[in-house]
Amino acid sequence: MSEFATRGSHLDLKLHAAQRAMELVEPGMTLGLGSGSTATIWIRLLGEQVRDHGLRIRAIASSEDSERLGKSYGIPFINFEECRSLDLTIDGADEVAPKLMLIKGGGGKLLREKIVASASKRFVVVADESKQVQKLGRFPLPVEVIPMAAPLVDGALRELGFTPAVRVNQDGSKYITDQGNFILDCSGMLIEDPYAMARELDSMVGVVEHGLFLDMASMALIAMEHEVVERTT
Ligand code: A5P
Repeated sequence: MSEFATRGSHLDLKLHAAQRAMELVEPGMTLGLGSGSTATIWIRLLGEQVRDHGLRIRAIASSEDSERLGKSYGIPFINFEECRSLDLTIDGADEVAPKLMLIKGGGGKLLREKIVASASKRFVVVADESKQVQKLGRFPLPVEVIPMAAPLVDGALRELGFTPAVRVNQDGSKYITDQGNFILDCSGMLIEDPYAMARELDSMVGVVEHGLFLDMASMALIAMEHEVVERTT
C-alpha cells in the first residue's frame, strides 16, 4: 500500500483518479508533472515507484513546487533543451466542461502548465467529480498579467463583463507567479463561448496567459464515489 494515505472523501476521490493515472505510465516515458493537490497525489505515487521500485522515467514539472516534490523522490528532471516532446502529462483542473474544455490555474501555475501540456502527446486530467460543469466560469478564470499592465488589463477584462481581482496571499501581499507576474482572478459571469473568450484574452497586451485550456486534454479521469470515469472529447 502507498505510504501516501488520504483522509476524507474528497481526498479519496483525488487519490482514486491519481491511481488510475498511474496505469497510463510506462517505463522509459518522459512525463509532464502538473500542479495542485490532485497532481501532487499523483507525483507522490509516481515518486514511490521511482524510489522504491526502480521505475525509469524522466520528467518536466509545471511548477517549482512539483519539481521540488519530484526531486525529493529521486525523479530525474530534464528541460525542453533536452527533450521537445513529452509522452504524457497528468494534471488537475479547476473546471472540466463538455469537450474537455478546462479552467486551470487555481494554484497559480497556469503558464507553465499550459507550456507543459502543449508539449505533450497526451494530456490527461485527473479530478474529482466536483470539477465537472456544463459551462465554464463559476470558478474565477485566472489571467496571468505583467505587473505593469495589470490596471490596463483589469479595465479591458471589465469591458468583457468580468469582475477581476488581483490574487493575494493570506498575508494580503500580492501573489507572484513563478515567472514574477500577477494573477487577475476573473469572476462574475459564465463563459458562453470559451473559444471567442480565449481569442479576446490572447489579443490583450500585457496578458501573459490565461486559464482556458481548450483542445488540449485528450482524456479526463473523473473520480466518482464508486468508480473512476474516463471522459474523452
Ligand atoms: C494549478 O495552477 C491548477 O491548474 C490546478 O491544476 C488546479 O487548480 C486543480 O487543483 P486541485 O487538484 O488542487 O483541485
